[in-house]
Amino acid sequence: MNQPSVNQPLQDSHKRRINYLRLSVTDRCNLRCSYCMPAEGLPFFDREDLLTRTEIMTIARLAVGMGIRKIRVTGGEPLVRPDIVDLLHELGHLPDLERLVLTTNGLRLGKLAPQLKEAGVSGANISIDSLNADLYSKITRGGELNQCLEGIDAAIAAGLRTKINVVVMNGVNDHEAADFVEFVRTRPISVRFIEYMPTRGKDEGQNDGKSLTLPTAQLLERLNRETPMEPIVRTDGFNMAGPARNFRVPGAVGSVGVISPVSCNFCDDCNRIRITSTGLARGCLFHDTGLDLKPWLRAGDEAGLIEALRRVVDDKPSGHQLDTDDGPDIVPMSQLGG
Ligand code: GTP
Ligand code: 5AD
Ligand code: SF4
Ligand code: SF4
Repeated sequence: MNQPSVNQPLQDSHKRRINYLRLSVTDRCNLRCSYCMPAEGLPFFDREDLLTRTEIMTIARLAVGMGIRKIRVTGGEPLVRPDIVDLLHELGHLPDLERLVLTTNGLRLGKLAPQLKEAGVSGANISIDSLNADLYSKITRGGELNQCLEGIDAAIAAGLRTKINVVVMNGVNDHEAADFVEFVRTRPISVRFIEYMPTRGKDEGQNDGKSLTLPTAQLLERLNRETPMEPIVRTDGFNMAGPARNFRVPGAVGSVGVISPVSCNFCDDCNRIRITSTGLARGCLFHDTGLDLKPWLRAGDEAGLIEALRRVVDDKPSGHQLDTDDGPDIVPMSQLGG
């Protein structure tokens, strides 16, 4: 089969270099986090609408041919997809792909971490929003903290570059921030505090969610009062390093990062596109509805697919308007992979 040739780096109309694909491989999840889904869960996509492994590989191969160098596999929860290890193995062997990583809730990592490493995965971002078993269970609606902690240990032991994601919510888990800093004191991992994005909209009955967002600046001020941290100067820029700003904690093995999608919009440096588990290609986490790649996939039309992916890159919006009152229509995060 013909690979498209990369003559020049993939660039959008705002002159941003696009080299990072977030690939959601399922909308299913074994948790029901309160900031992500309603208690009853969301209706799942029909099974026949989910992309097959072959279809995902076709998109990934073409995207890498166009200049994508990093793929982050997301969900829902990617590790509940039955063929996930085989899929990662195939992705891990794509020539020219420099980094294959995963975002997961960690519950299945205790079992799978060594196989993932073996498949070619180099890192895992693991969601853990509380270190208190009751609160963890409450936020995730039934998750077991120990299982997640075992997943984190297994990821470290398997040699995966491990980061933990904490969605900070005012009045819910913000009081635990210092505990998370202690958690990374003895572990070679980074904890990233993420500003809650009001993606659940008004259906949560919580003042359209915005009061849950704790601006990063306030969080940092609190943390620095207890443990002064030193900014880590970035050497590889946003492109491969991501939107986190990182800090060294004196005497700690691990580090601290903050991700501020609401208060400190990082869209100017955005390098990513997304594909959902049903084959919608999206230029932005928010904003557009996505371009359905299935017609080209199912017709075996690779030239059409390449053109479609190029269109998504060309049409990529300059940024989001989460901070405005009439923000964008939001698709559930479990269907987009964050
Ligand atoms: P790396 O930089 O590859 O480590 O990944 P990441 O930190 O961007 O990804 P991860 O899946 O761990 O997501 C962390 C947080 O960043 C989540 O809350 C995501 O929703 C958010 N996030 C990831 N990518 C984007 C993006 O393109 N735009 C916005 N607004 N938020 C994003
Ligand atoms: N705000 C911020 N982060 C979110 N995530 C999911 N929903 C939200 C939200 N509303 C995070 C998850 C996971 C990543 C994929 O996105 O916690 O770490
Ligand atoms: Fe599942 Fe992640 Fe959503 Fe939690 S945030 S319900 S782990 S997809
Ligand atoms: Fe990129 Fe859109 Fe995220 Fe901004 S909101 S960083 S443009 S994906």
